[in-house]
Amino acid sequence: MIAGLSQPQKTLSPKYFYDAQGSRLFEAICRLREYYPTRCELALTRRHLGDIARFAGRRIELIEYGSGAGVKSRLLLGALRPAAYVPVDISEAALQGAARRLAREFPGLEIHGVVGDFMQPLTLPVYRARSARRRVVYFPGSTIGNLTPVEAHAFLRMTRGQVGARGAMLVGVDLKKDANVLHAAYNDAKGVTAAFNLNLLARINRELGGDFDLRRFSHYAFYNAAQGRIEMHLVSLARQTVAIGPHRFGFDTGESIHTENSCKYSAEEFRALALAAGFRAERVWQDGRKYFALFGLVAG
Ligand code: SAH
Ligand code: AVI
Repeated sequence: MIAGLSQPQKTLSPKYFYDAQGSRLFEAICRLREYYPTRCELALTRRHLGDIARFAGRRIELIEYGSGAGVKSRLLLGALRPAAYVPVDISEAALQGAARRLAREFPGLEIHGVVGDFMQPLTLPVYRARSARRRVVYFPGSTIGNLTPVEAHAFLRMTRGQVGARGAMLVGVDLKKDANVLHAAYNDAKGVTAAFNLNLLARINRELGGDFDLRRFSHYAFYNAAQGRIEMHLVSLARQTVAIGPHRFGFDTGESIHTENSCKYSAEEFRALALAAGFRAERVWQDGRKYFALFGLVAG
Protein backbone atom coordinates (compact mmCIF):
# COMPACT_ATOMS: atom_id res chain seq x y z
CA MET A 1 0.00 0.00 0.00
CA ILE A 2 2.85 2.39 0.88
CA ALA A 3 4.49 1.62 -2.51
CA GLY A 4 1.18 2.16 -4.35
CA LEU A 5 0.53 5.49 -2.64
CA SER A 6 4.07 6.64 -3.46
CA GLN A 7 3.56 6.41 -7.24
CA PRO A 8 2.79 9.50 -9.38
CA GLN A 9 -0.72 8.05 -9.97
CA LYS A 10 -1.53 6.80 -6.48
CA THR A 11 -2.81 3.23 -6.75
CA LEU A 12 -4.15 0.59 -4.38
CA SER A 13 -4.92 -3.01 -5.36
CA PRO A 14 -8.63 -3.89 -5.30
CA LYS A 15 -7.77 -7.03 -3.32
CA TYR A 16 -7.57 -4.77 -0.24
CA PHE A 17 -11.30 -3.93 -0.45
CA TYR A 18 -12.24 -7.23 1.12
CA ASP A 19 -12.05 -7.12 4.89
CA ALA A 20 -15.22 -8.32 6.69
CA GLN A 21 -16.93 -4.95 6.08
CA GLY A 22 -15.80 -4.86 2.43
CA SER A 23 -17.17 -8.35 1.83
CA ARG A 24 -20.51 -7.30 3.39
CA LEU A 25 -20.64 -4.20 1.19
CA PHE A 26 -19.87 -6.27 -1.91
CA GLU A 27 -22.82 -8.54 -1.10
CA ALA A 28 -25.00 -5.42 -0.78
CA ILE A 29 -23.76 -4.31 -4.23
CA CYS A 30 -24.85 -7.68 -5.65
CA ARG A 31 -28.43 -6.94 -4.53
CA LEU A 32 -28.56 -3.49 -6.19
CA ARG A 33 -30.96 -2.88 -9.07
CA GLU A 34 -28.16 -1.26 -11.11
CA TYR A 35 -25.58 -4.02 -10.55
CA TYR A 36 -26.59 -6.50 -13.27
CA PRO A 37 -23.53 -8.88 -13.33
CA THR A 38 -24.55 -11.03 -10.33
CA ARG A 39 -28.15 -11.53 -11.48
CA CYS A 40 -27.03 -12.18 -15.05
CA GLU A 41 -24.44 -14.78 -14.10
CA LEU A 42 -26.77 -16.51 -11.62
CA ALA A 43 -29.54 -16.76 -14.23
CA LEU A 44 -27.06 -17.97 -16.84
CA THR A 45 -25.68 -20.60 -14.47
CA ARG A 46 -29.17 -21.82 -13.43
CA ARG A 47 -30.29 -22.02 -17.02
CA HIS A 48 -27.34 -24.09 -18.24
CA LEU A 49 -26.55 -26.02 -15.07
CA GLY A 50 -26.97 -29.46 -16.66
CA ASP A 51 -24.76 -28.53 -19.58
CA ILE A 52 -22.15 -26.97 -17.28
CA ALA A 53 -22.09 -30.15 -15.17
CA ARG A 54 -21.57 -32.28 -18.30
CA PHE A 55 -18.73 -29.99 -19.37
CA ALA A 56 -17.01 -30.25 -15.96
CA GLY A 57 -17.42 -34.03 -15.67
CA ARG A 58 -17.90 -36.39 -12.70
CA ARG A 59 -15.73 -36.89 -9.60
CA ILE A 60 -13.79 -33.68 -10.10
CA GLU A 61 -11.76 -31.62 -7.69
CA LEU A 62 -13.27 -28.13 -7.79
CA ILE A 63 -11.06 -25.15 -6.91
CA GLU A 64 -12.83 -21.79 -6.71
CA TYR A 65 -10.97 -18.48 -6.71
CA GLY A 66 -12.63 -15.49 -5.03
CA SER A 67 -15.49 -17.61 -3.73
CA GLY A 68 -16.90 -14.80 -1.54
CA ALA A 69 -20.32 -15.59 -0.03
CA GLY A 70 -20.50 -18.80 -2.07
CA VAL A 71 -23.91 -18.16 -3.64
CA LYS A 72 -22.88 -19.32 -7.11
CA SER A 73 -20.76 -22.06 -5.56
CA ARG A 74 -23.86 -23.58 -3.95
CA LEU A 75 -25.55 -23.90 -7.35
CA LEU A 76 -22.52 -25.50 -8.92
CA LEU A 77 -21.82 -27.87 -6.02
CA GLY A 78 -25.40 -29.13 -6.12
CA ALA A 79 -25.13 -29.99 -9.81
CA LEU A 80 -21.49 -31.10 -10.06
CA ARG A 81 -21.25 -33.07 -6.80
CA PRO A 82 -17.42 -32.86 -6.85
CA ALA A 83 -15.17 -35.22 -4.88
CA ALA A 84 -13.54 -32.23 -3.15
CA TYR A 85 -14.09 -28.47 -3.05
CA VAL A 86 -11.34 -25.89 -2.41
CA PRO A 87 -12.67 -22.33 -2.07
CA VAL A 88 -9.88 -19.72 -2.06
CA ASP A 89 -10.47 -16.16 -0.90
CA ILE A 90 -8.42 -13.30 0.52
CA SER A 91 -11.31 -12.41 2.86
CA GLU A 92 -11.15 -14.74 5.83
CA ALA A 93 -14.57 -13.59 7.06
CA ALA A 94 -16.29 -14.31 3.74
CA LEU A 95 -14.49 -17.64 3.33
CA GLN A 96 -15.34 -18.93 6.80
CA GLY A 97 -19.00 -17.91 6.55
CA ALA A 98 -19.41 -19.53 3.14
CA ALA A 99 -17.48 -22.71 3.99
CA ARG A 100 -19.61 -23.24 7.14
CA ARG A 101 -22.87 -22.76 5.25
CA LEU A 102 -21.79 -25.07 2.43
CA ALA A 103 -20.53 -27.74 4.84
CA ARG A 104 -23.99 -27.79 6.48
CA GLU A 105 -25.69 -28.00 3.11
CA PHE A 106 -23.40 -30.66 1.62
CA PRO A 107 -22.52 -32.85 4.62
CA GLY A 108 -20.64 -35.52 2.63
CA LEU A 109 -18.47 -33.03 0.73
CA GLU A 110 -14.77 -32.61 1.52
CA ILE A 111 -14.22 -28.83 1.78
CA HIS A 112 -10.77 -27.26 2.26
CA GLY A 113 -10.96 -23.48 2.48
CA VAL A 114 -7.75 -21.56 1.75
CA VAL A 115 -7.28 -17.92 2.80
CA GLY A 116 -4.86 -16.43 0.33
CA ASP A 117 -4.09 -14.37 -2.76
CA PHE A 118 -5.01 -16.20 -5.95
CA MET A 119 -2.26 -14.35 -7.85
CA GLN A 120 0.31 -16.28 -5.81
CA PRO A 121 1.04 -19.96 -6.50
CA LEU A 122 -1.26 -21.94 -4.25
CA THR A 123 -0.13 -24.78 -2.02
CA LEU A 124 -3.09 -27.13 -2.18
CA PRO A 125 -4.18 -29.02 0.89
CA VAL A 126 -3.76 -32.78 1.05
CA TYR A 127 -7.06 -34.51 0.43
CA ARG A 128 -8.71 -37.70 1.35
CA ALA A 129 -10.52 -37.51 -2.01
CA ARG A 130 -7.67 -38.86 -4.09
CA SER A 131 -10.23 -40.46 -6.36
CA ALA A 132 -10.82 -37.12 -8.17
CA ARG A 133 -10.37 -37.64 -11.88
CA ARG A 134 -9.99 -34.09 -13.02
CA ARG A 135 -9.17 -30.67 -11.62
CA VAL A 136 -11.54 -27.83 -12.54
CA VAL A 137 -11.01 -24.20 -11.54
CA TYR A 138 -14.13 -22.04 -11.10
CA PHE A 139 -13.61 -18.26 -11.30
CA PRO A 140 -17.01 -16.52 -11.37
CA GLY A 141 -18.18 -12.94 -10.85
CA SER A 142 -15.94 -11.44 -13.55
CA THR A 143 -13.32 -11.08 -10.83
CA ILE A 144 -10.90 -11.71 -13.71
CA GLY A 145 -11.95 -8.22 -14.90
CA ASN A 146 -10.28 -6.74 -11.81
CA LEU A 147 -6.93 -7.89 -13.21
CA THR A 148 -5.26 -5.99 -16.05
CA PRO A 149 -5.08 -8.03 -19.28
CA VAL A 150 -1.37 -8.64 -18.54
CA GLU A 151 -2.19 -9.92 -15.04
CA ALA A 152 -5.13 -11.95 -16.40
CA HIS A 153 -2.80 -13.59 -18.91
CA ALA A 154 -0.33 -14.52 -16.15
CA PHE A 155 -3.16 -15.77 -13.93
CA LEU A 156 -4.66 -17.92 -16.72
CA ARG A 157 -1.22 -19.35 -17.52
CA MET A 158 -0.66 -20.26 -13.90
CA THR A 159 -4.12 -21.85 -13.72
CA ARG A 160 -3.48 -23.77 -16.93
CA GLY A 161 -0.39 -25.27 -15.27
CA GLN A 162 -2.40 -26.05 -12.16
CA VAL A 163 -5.24 -27.93 -13.88
CA GLY A 164 -2.91 -29.86 -16.19
CA ALA A 165 -3.57 -31.23 -19.68
CA ARG A 166 -6.89 -32.90 -18.75
CA GLY A 167 -8.17 -30.08 -16.56
CA ALA A 168 -10.67 -27.32 -17.21
CA MET A 169 -11.70 -23.86 -16.12
CA LEU A 170 -15.08 -22.16 -15.78
CA VAL A 171 -14.73 -18.40 -15.85
CA GLY A 172 -17.38 -15.68 -15.68
CA VAL A 173 -16.69 -12.61 -17.84
CA ASP A 174 -18.57 -9.31 -17.92
CA LEU A 175 -19.00 -8.24 -21.53
CA LYS A 176 -18.69 -4.85 -23.25
CA LYS A 177 -22.03 -3.06 -23.47
CA ASP A 178 -23.75 0.36 -23.49
CA ALA A 179 -21.55 2.68 -21.41
CA ASN A 180 -24.66 4.06 -19.60
CA VAL A 181 -25.47 0.60 -18.25
CA LEU A 182 -21.87 0.21 -17.08
CA HIS A 183 -21.80 3.68 -15.55
CA ALA A 184 -25.00 3.08 -13.55
CA ALA A 185 -23.71 -0.26 -12.21
CA TYR A 186 -20.73 1.49 -10.57
CA ASN A 187 -22.57 4.69 -9.57
CA ASP A 188 -25.65 3.32 -7.82
CA ALA A 189 -28.27 5.70 -6.44
CA LYS A 190 -28.02 4.38 -2.86
CA GLY A 191 -24.26 5.02 -2.71
CA VAL A 192 -23.35 1.44 -1.77
CA THR A 193 -20.50 1.31 -4.32
CA ALA A 194 -19.22 4.62 -2.94
CA ALA A 195 -19.25 3.13 0.59
CA PHE A 196 -17.44 0.01 -0.74
CA ASN A 197 -14.74 2.20 -2.32
CA LEU A 198 -14.35 4.46 0.75
CA ASN A 199 -14.14 1.45 3.07
CA LEU A 200 -10.62 0.96 1.70
CA LEU A 201 -9.55 4.18 3.46
CA ALA A 202 -11.48 3.22 6.60
CA ARG A 203 -9.64 -0.11 6.56
CA ILE A 204 -6.27 1.65 6.31
CA ASN A 205 -7.27 3.76 9.32
CA ARG A 206 -8.39 0.65 11.26
CA GLU A 207 -5.51 -1.67 10.45
CA LEU A 208 -2.52 0.51 9.55
CA GLY A 209 -3.04 3.52 11.80
CA GLY A 210 -3.97 5.84 8.93
CA ASP A 211 -5.67 9.20 9.47
CA PHE A 212 -7.72 9.49 6.25
CA ASP A 213 -10.69 11.85 6.74
CA LEU A 214 -13.36 10.05 4.68
CA ARG A 215 -15.36 13.29 4.27
CA ARG A 216 -12.45 14.70 2.26
CA PHE A 217 -12.48 11.96 -0.40
CA SER A 218 -15.16 11.12 -2.91
CA HIS A 219 -16.04 8.04 -4.97
CA TYR A 220 -15.49 8.45 -8.73
CA ALA A 221 -16.20 5.72 -11.30
CA PHE A 222 -16.24 6.09 -15.09
CA TYR A 223 -16.00 3.94 -18.21
CA ASN A 224 -12.63 4.33 -19.92
CA ALA A 225 -13.65 3.31 -23.45
CA ALA A 226 -10.10 3.32 -24.83
CA GLN A 227 -9.03 0.75 -22.23
CA GLY A 228 -12.41 -1.05 -22.16
CA ARG A 229 -12.70 -0.79 -18.39
CA ILE A 230 -14.54 0.85 -15.54
CA GLU A 231 -12.05 2.70 -13.37
CA MET A 232 -12.78 3.45 -9.73
CA HIS A 233 -10.93 6.23 -7.97
CA LEU A 234 -11.07 8.06 -4.65
CA VAL A 235 -10.70 11.78 -5.35
CA SER A 236 -9.26 14.18 -2.81
CA LEU A 237 -11.68 17.07 -2.20
CA ALA A 238 -8.95 19.31 -0.75
CA ARG A 239 -5.23 19.92 -0.67
CA GLN A 240 -4.22 17.75 2.26
CA THR A 241 -1.60 15.50 3.82
CA VAL A 242 -2.49 12.06 5.11
CA ALA A 243 -0.39 9.94 7.46
CA ILE A 244 -0.16 6.16 7.62
CA GLY A 245 2.02 5.45 10.62
CA PRO A 246 5.32 7.26 9.93
CA HIS A 247 4.55 7.77 6.19
CA ARG A 248 3.13 11.05 4.82
CA PHE A 249 1.23 11.43 1.53
CA GLY A 250 0.37 14.80 -0.01
CA PHE A 251 -2.79 15.23 -2.11
CA ASP A 252 -3.72 18.11 -4.39
CA THR A 253 -7.37 19.02 -4.76
CA GLY A 254 -8.79 16.67 -7.41
CA GLU A 255 -5.90 14.21 -7.18
CA SER A 256 -7.04 10.59 -7.04
CA ILE A 257 -6.12 7.15 -5.77
CA HIS A 258 -6.89 4.57 -8.48
CA THR A 259 -8.54 1.73 -6.55
CA GLU A 260 -9.97 -0.65 -9.17
CA ASN A 261 -10.17 -1.58 -12.82
CA SER A 262 -13.09 -3.66 -13.94
CA CYS A 263 -12.18 -4.74 -17.47
CA LYS A 264 -14.96 -5.58 -19.90
CA TYR A 265 -14.27 -7.93 -22.80
CA SER A 266 -16.01 -8.90 -26.00
CA ALA A 267 -16.46 -12.67 -26.23
CA GLU A 268 -13.82 -12.70 -28.99
CA GLU A 269 -11.32 -10.66 -26.95
CA PHE A 270 -11.64 -13.04 -24.03
CA ARG A 271 -11.40 -16.11 -26.24
CA ALA A 272 -8.10 -14.74 -27.64
CA LEU A 273 -6.78 -13.91 -24.15
CA ALA A 274 -7.52 -17.46 -22.98
CA LEU A 275 -5.94 -18.98 -26.09
CA ALA A 276 -2.73 -16.99 -25.63
CA ALA A 277 -2.56 -18.43 -22.08
CA GLY A 278 -2.99 -22.05 -23.26
CA PHE A 279 -6.77 -22.50 -22.97
CA ARG A 280 -9.28 -23.25 -25.72
CA ALA A 281 -12.86 -22.03 -25.23
CA GLU A 282 -14.81 -25.26 -25.69
CA ARG A 283 -18.10 -23.76 -24.49
CA VAL A 284 -19.41 -20.19 -24.15
CA TRP A 285 -22.75 -19.62 -22.40
CA GLN A 286 -24.24 -16.14 -22.83
CA ASP A 287 -27.51 -14.44 -21.91
CA GLY A 288 -29.86 -13.09 -24.60
CA ARG A 289 -28.68 -9.48 -24.15
CA LYS A 290 -25.03 -10.60 -24.29
CA TYR A 291 -24.30 -8.84 -20.99
CA PHE A 292 -22.31 -11.67 -19.45
CA ALA A 293 -20.56 -14.86 -20.56
CA LEU A 294 -19.51 -18.03 -18.81
CA PHE A 295 -16.56 -19.68 -20.57
CA GLY A 296 -15.84 -23.40 -20.39
CA LEU A 297 -12.07 -23.59 -21.06
CA VAL A 298 -9.98 -26.70 -21.68
CA ALA A 299 -6.27 -27.09 -22.30
CA GLY A 300 -5.71 -25.87 -25.83
N1 SAH B 1 -17.35 -15.07 -6.57
C1 SAH B 1 -18.25 -14.16 -5.87
C2 SAH B 1 -17.52 -12.98 -5.23
C3 SAH B 1 -16.90 -12.01 -6.20
S1 SAH B 1 -16.21 -10.62 -5.33
C4 SAH B 1 -19.30 -13.69 -6.84
O1 SAH B 1 -19.20 -14.00 -8.02
O2 SAH B 1 -20.22 -12.99 -6.43
C5 SAH B 1 -14.50 -10.96 -5.48
C6 SAH B 1 -14.05 -11.99 -4.45
O3 SAH B 1 -12.69 -12.28 -4.69
C7 SAH B 1 -14.14 -11.45 -3.02
O4 SAH B 1 -14.69 -12.42 -2.17
C8 SAH B 1 -12.69 -11.13 -2.65
O5 SAH B 1 -12.43 -11.29 -1.28
C9 SAH B 1 -11.93 -12.11 -3.52
N2 SAH B 1 -10.61 -11.63 -3.96
C10 SAH B 1 -10.32 -10.46 -4.58
N3 SAH B 1 -9.02 -10.40 -4.89
C11 SAH B 1 -8.47 -11.57 -4.45
C12 SAH B 1 -7.15 -12.11 -4.49
N4 SAH B 1 -6.14 -11.44 -5.04
N5 SAH B 1 -6.96 -13.35 -3.98
C13 SAH B 1 -7.98 -14.05 -3.41
N6 SAH B 1 -9.24 -13.58 -3.35
C14 SAH B 1 -9.48 -12.36 -3.87
C1 AVI C 1 -15.63 -8.43 -7.80
N1 AVI C 1 -15.64 -7.55 -8.98
C2 AVI C 1 -15.84 -8.33 -10.21
C3 AVI C 1 -16.58 -6.42 -8.88
C4 AVI C 1 -16.60 -5.63 -10.21
O1 AVI C 1 -17.70 -5.39 -10.71
O2 AVI C 1 -15.53 -5.29 -10.72
C5 AVI C 1 -16.20 -5.50 -7.73
C6 AVI C 1 -17.00 -4.24 -7.73
N2 AVI C 1 -16.50 -3.02 -7.76
C7 AVI C 1 -17.49 -2.15 -7.76
N3 AVI C 1 -18.63 -2.79 -7.77
C8 AVI C 1 -18.36 -4.11 -7.74
